[in-house]
Amino acid sequence: MNDKLTQLCKEIEKFQTENLEELDRFRLKFLGKKGELTTLFDDIRSIPAEERKTFGQNVNHLKNLVQEKIQQLKNAIEAKQTTTIEKIDTTCPANSIELGSRHPVSVVRKQIYDVFEKIGFVVADGPEIEDDWHLFNALNFPPEHPARDMQDTFFVEKDPDIALRTHTSSIQIRVMEKQKPPIRVICPGRTYRNEVITARSHCMFHQIEGLYIDKNVSFADMKQTLLHFAKEMFGTETNIRLRPSYFPFTEPSAEMDITCGICKGKGCNLCKNSGWVEILGCGMVDPNVLRNMNIDPNEYSGFAFGMGIERITQVLYKTKDIRLFFENDLRFLKQFQAI
Ligand code: DAH
Repeated sequence: MNDKLTQLCKEIEKFQTENLEELDRFRLKFLGKKGELTTLFDDIRSIPAEERKTFGQNVNHLKNLVQEKIQQLKNAIEAKQTTTIEKIDTTCPANSIELGSRHPVSVVRKQIYDVFEKIGFVVADGPEIEDDWHLFNALNFPPEHPARDMQDTFFVEKDPDIALRTHTSSIQIRVMEKQKPPIRVICPGRTYRNEVITARSHCMFHQIEGLYIDKNVSFADMKQTLLHFAKEMFGTETNIRLRPSYFPFTEPSAEMDITCGICKGKGCNLCKNSGWVEILGCGMVDPNVLRNMNIDPNEYSGFAFGMGIERITQVLYKTKDIRLFFENDLRFLKQFQAI
């Protein structure tokens, strides 16, 4: 019996833990209802009378040993917990959260919104995956027009009627389907073309379309609106010129140039020594488009324009390579306005 007591005594002295659950298991092992010590206390009765006293003292000694051990380990565990809590200095200043910056395309899109919203235009939206009607047919594209060609347009496999939109002009149609004149909208969006990716062209870019339809809207209204836009966007010194052009959905159509902001008309790299930089296409909405939308061209007229946001950004910030807009290189992106 004494051997058993010595062995238990060693076990108690040796026991170490930093875990409260393990400590509780230790307590149960010795002091639980069926624990070692409880059984030993029960054994006292069966011990011969002359040994009973010493045996009882020894078992009591073991009990004290277990209780002291438990208390000592419990204190140590609790002390450790408090020191970890105290290590967190809540008076320290917080780590600063680094601010990101808006993408240049978003910065410029917002600038364009600001100019047009002040003169009564509202923003309208449309889907990036479009059907032939909204992309081409309703916009008066003849069936053989090259813009429908597989080389320019990403068609959805198995359905040549569905494509990624090649321009935001399709949103004009979406708006006219829903709304009767007067209409004054700008329509931003992502556009896609099957182009080789180079410094000058990309298969994905952003455009903003403008549409203004009301009674008696004239070419002069368009010119004045676009001059206002150019001056607000590029500075009051800026001048514009309109060159005759062709788009199926406008008649007459024009391309608009602004005076080169870098050389002020003297000639430089950006303007290829011409003094002028092309920034958008525009024109009077073709009567066929109005008719397609059940708007009477004898009662209403309007103008439309479309521009590439990357193009405007390049002119404003003098960035040369369109690929920079899509590479997400922070060294490039961080140069634009913080949030
Ligand atoms: N949709 C034309 C393009 O992607 C841009 C454009 C030109 C839009 C003339 C217009 C416009 O609304 O009148 O190149």
